[in-house]
Amino acid sequence: MELPEDVGSDDCLASYTHIYSPDLLRDQVAFITGGGSGIGLRIAEIFMRPINLTVVFLDRCLIKCFLAVLFFKCTTTCADSKRNAFFFDTDAAGNFLCPASALSFNAFKTVLEIDTMGTFNTSKVVYEKWFKDHGGNIVNISATLAYRGQALQVHAGSAKAANDAMTKHLAVEWGPSGVRVNAVAPGPISGTEGFRRLGGSGAEAAGSFQSIPLQRAGNKTEMAHCTLFLASRASSYMTGAVLVADGGAWLTSANDVSALLGIASSKSAKL
Ligand code: COA
Repeated sequence: MELPEDVGSDDCLASYTHIYSPDLLRDQVAFITGGGSGIGLRIAEIFMRPINLTVVFLDRCLIKCFLAVLFFKCTTTCADSKRNAFFFDTDAAGNFLCPASALSFNAFKTVLEIDTMGTFNTSKVVYEKWFKDHGGNIVNISATLAYRGQALQVHAGSAKAANDAMTKHLAVEWGPSGVRVNAVAPGPISGTEGFRRLGGSGAEAAGSFQSIPLQRAGNKTEMAHCTLFLASRASSYMTGAVLVADGGAWLTSANDVSALLGIASSKSAKL
């Protein structure tokens, strides 16, 4: 099977072949958190390629001006251009490998604040300011870490499990307002900060990905396509769902503490 184009860096794609109709998101507005690098950046790029879509993306360095500026810009854009829908993707995350016994209280809290509080705060503000009256669509970026209790990941696994619960709770509460809430759960995705921090390159070089059913890492464009599906009318009857896009990795990959400690040590994590 031919894979979608991607590059390992945060550069834009040299070429891109649409897999959906280019006007799938016509006249909509997208707001993407964590859009400054990695999966979030590729989502922003792929979303910008369709005709007549406005994309607003945000990264942590801009977070302080977010509440003041963003909704002025988004609501103005929506109102002025009569754009009739609005959706957002949230991909802000923080992670590193660390055993629970070595994890400080502040480290756990920091990751929860970025991943879980960040998702809730943004979802709530978007809902109050726009979705409540106009409907909309939220796509969260999740993870499979909690499915089997991944070693060295109690902080990120707990945070993303909370986000999966939040996806369902908000889908139930906000569905009557015309708001869909879904999530994509990526596996190891090359060319991302997570891949570098969590030992993806070493695992790939060591042949560990042979144990993944699809026997390779995913790429950022593939994650953008999953997000595009959930953000578009192609998934119009889906809400409260987590779309796992990991090549089957969570089913078969090693979850062995000793092996993962080896990766963590070689990455100079605080152990
Ligand atoms: N292992 C264990 N603890 C760590 C750590 C690591 N590799 N990196 C940071 N911490 C701890 C710090 O020691 C601190 O705890 P302390 O005050 O008890 O010493 C706490 O986490 C907060 O660290 P700090 O650097 O002040 O927070 P930050 O907000 O600047 O950074 C992180 C947030 C820690 C999540 C950082 O890794 C980050 O910015 N990541 C963003 C990118 C990313 O992780 N992408 C991958 C997504 S999969």
